[in-house]
Amino acid sequence: MMKHTYIKGIGHYVPENVITNQDLEKVMDTSDEWIQERTGIQERRVVTRLKETTTTMGARAAERAIEDAGIDKNEIDFIIFATLSPDYYFPGCGVLVQRMLGISEGECAALDIRNQCSGFIYGLSIADQFIKTGMYKNILLIGSETHSMGLDYTTRGRDISVIFGDGAGAVILQPSEEEKSRILSTHLHSDGRYAEKLAFISPGCHGGYYDEDKEKYGFSDDPYDPVFLTDKMLEDHMTFPNMDGQYVFKYAVTKFPEVIMEALDTNGLSASDIDLFIPHQANLRISQFVQRKLGLRDDQVFNNIQKYGNTTAASIPIALSEAYYEGRVKKGDLVCLAAFGSGFTWGSALLNW
Ligand code: ACO
Repeated sequence: MMKHTYIKGIGHYVPENVITNQDLEKVMDTSDEWIQERTGIQERRVVTRLKETTTTMGARAAERAIEDAGIDKNEIDFIIFATLSPDYYFPGCGVLVQRMLGISEGECAALDIRNQCSGFIYGLSIADQFIKTGMYKNILLIGSETHSMGLDYTTRGRDISVIFGDGAGAVILQPSEEEKSRILSTHLHSDGRYAEKLAFISPGCHGGYYDEDKEKYGFSDDPYDPVFLTDKMLEDHMTFPNMDGQYVFKYAVTKFPEVIMEALDTNGLSASDIDLFIPHQANLRISQFVQRKLGLRDDQVFNNIQKYGNTTAASIPIALSEAYYEGRVKKGDLVCLAAFGSGFTWGSALLNW
């Protein structure tokens, strides 16, 4: 019999420190009104410096998911870690979380994926394929982000820094032969033509693509000079993410409904069948637009961006975990997850809880 994948355990962790919109008003030229009107965000969490990282938060969320699943950590045979804010440039957080929790040392495999806002959906799809083939039986999938370490909290960086927050979520995925509780399908897409519309380019190994990049990034012709991080990058404040907000908004509100309809059509379902839609928490305005487009009632949609901001790869597992522990998702419920983000990459997952 064909094996299915289901979520056996779930957990999340957000740091204690809260930064409100009013706090941001003190360090940059912004206002609570501007932020709430455009994004719906009221506050976000940030890590305690010298104590917390993407890996430590991922580990806390994983511990909860492992406990909820009722498995021994050494039963885990594959770790998938989705993040755009890893502790180290390399190795990835997958092995770091394995070491921190002492999971199946030398036995399991670890994979890091870098699909930004759609990282969790991509991870879910990867896990689903490995479980269906029978290769793995207990997959730990984590989405964790520490945005606060790399944002420009001055007026210069306000269009981005007010949006993002820190946190982590995790799930344990197992095979199931039950029809009632399983991932029904996942759908993934990408379009690299817009890679720089939402990107964190420098520091990095790009070395420039065009003649004008030499001056822009401060590259020299000397093969022994660094290109990863140059003085010019620091002087010109280039070591932060950049985003064409309006462009991202327009693309996101088209692709979200498209990829959700793709999932529903594949399974012969319609939007009215959805018990709970959990969009990637990019921006409340995007989520509300998608809700209207699909004709969903308020009780069919879960939003928590107001409290946490956009936590990219962590946003869906944090929201799913909160929804689950609040009793908003029950066994057999049809849950729809969807994300859009940098790349551009986007995707959806439809599951019976
Ligand atoms: N506080 C106050 N003013 C600000 C801020 C801020 N934090 N940030 C920008 N502004 C100013 C700008 O400087 C600009 O001023 P100007 O008119 O004097 O030049 C003005 O506000 C309008 O700026 P826009 O960028 O045009 O603002 P917009 O209405 O497009 O809102 C936003 C920006 C919120 C980013 C919007 O474009 C958006 O929601 N985009 C979607 C992108 C998104 O949600 N990204 C999340 C990550 S991607 C993802 O997860 C899918």
